[in-house]
Amino acid sequence: MRPVVPLAAGPSTGSRRRPAPPDTPRGRARVAVSILDADLGNLAHAVRRAEREGADRIHLDVMDGHFVPNLTFGPKTIKALRRRTRLPIDAHLMIDEPGRYLDEYLDAGCDSITFHVEVREPIEPTLRRIRAAGRAAGLAVRPKTALAALEPFRALLDIVMVMTVEPGFGGQAFMADMLDKVAAARAARVRRGARFLIEVDGGIAPDTAPAARRAGADAFVAGNAVFGAADPGAALEALRAAVRV
Ligand code: DX5
Ligand code: ZN
Repeated sequence: MRPVVPLAAGPSTGSRRRPAPPDTPRGRARVAVSILDADLGNLAHAVRRAEREGADRIHLDVMDGHFVPNLTFGPKTIKALRRRTRLPIDAHLMIDEPGRYLDEYLDAGCDSITFHVEVREPIEPTLRRIRAAGRAAGLAVRPKTALAALEPFRALLDIVMVMTVEPGFGGQAFMADMLDKVAAARAARVRRGARFLIEVDGGIAPDTAPAARRAGADAFVAGNAVFGAADPGAALEALRAAVRV
């Protein structure tokens, strides 16, 4: 059996890792901090700050200017940031060709790689390659995409990411109507005895996260709620308190 790479595991060194005990869904809520809207002239500082202030994971939004109308950073930046933190790194690939560039993201030391089910590339081979490298594999769904689009790949998923904003930018309003998808993902997980983690991304803050937690989310990506705050540490603590059950 392929070792399950728990989202609570330590950082990857780029090569295959020693398997760790499986992680149980519905465990402690995890907060992943997105640096998309941090000071882009000092990403290393932002990553270290997030770690110091108590983030569980670092969420890196990779955008290619095609899949979404924005351009951010790629594997070279991730590799450099990998050396600046001990936290696990989650790559959120909003790119047209995740399979074509996958090896570079694996080599960069990503602990989990989530890409979008809406890409035009074959999806299953890329999920299998992520898992074969001992990392957690995830698929994300845009707001207009039904959760059912993930059905063919459910056996290959460690992460189901429900976008709670239209992907492409930070600082957007939380879409509460996406919570039905979160609840449906949880129901599917129970029905099938599956182990994937349910992650929400976009507009997450202390006033929006509790409803997502009640709907079934286990992991919460937050960007502006942390780096847009006067005191990111206090903001992160407020968010952790909001999802603590
Ligand atoms: C948007 C990204 C999100 C974004 C979250 O496409 O996938 O991760 O950075 O930022 P906030 O929390 O500000 O919505
Ligand atoms: Zn993201």
